[in-house]
Amino acid sequence: MLVLAAALLSLAAAVDVARAADTPADKTQPAGASSLNPRDRGKYMLIVGSCNDCHTADFAAKNGNVPERDWLKGSALGFAGPWGTTYAPNLRLTLAKLTEPQWVRYAKDLKTRPPMPWFNLSQWTEHDLRAFYRYVRSLGPPGDPAPAFVPFGAPAPQPSVQWPAPPK
Ligand code: HEC
Repeated sequence: MLVLAAALLSLAAAVDVARAADTPADKTQPAGASSLNPRDRGKYMLIVGSCNDCHTADFAAKNGNVPERDWLKGSALGFAGPWGTTYAPNLRLTLAKLTEPQWVRYAKDLKTRPPMPWFNLSQWTEHDLRAFYRYVRSLGPPGDPAPAFVPFGAPAPQPSVQWPAPPK
């Protein structure tokens, strides 16, 4: 009985393999994201992590239609709130000052002012942080720094998004 069951199971497995071999690759779907090479995985994490929304000038305003050569160079659009006015820095410059292991530590320990979602970045796996580093370092010339943080009450270069204090 057991032998028969085992034989049936392996027959079923063989049929599955044959079916899989018959199925043409679905060209509309990206390859499994985890099977991407590190650079492509890093790019994928950047896109699904929404980093461009703030760290690339005009990215959201242009519905993402910003050429890759301009990605992550920082933005001069300020985020003004009770914390002062912050600017999403040029991440090409930030990463150029760090080695890959230093970046992993930096991202894991990072705590910033709003609206940077550092609490999401710190949950990335080391594998994904390393992939992100390789991708960002492969981008072209780093460009210039974004404007520096402006303390609360001091005049900030315009324009900036005004952020209200959270409800009590
Ligand atoms: C909602 C806007 C927003 C999004 C989305 C965002 N950031 Fe930021 N990020 C900022 C701002 C603003 C700062 C500066 C905070 C400050 O000055 O304290 C910052 C700071 C940082 C820093 C510190 C930079 C430095 O030079 O020390 C890193 C690293 C960073 N972000 C990485 C990322 C990554 C990676 C993603 C995507 C997973 C991301 N950010 C998504 C707005 C954003």
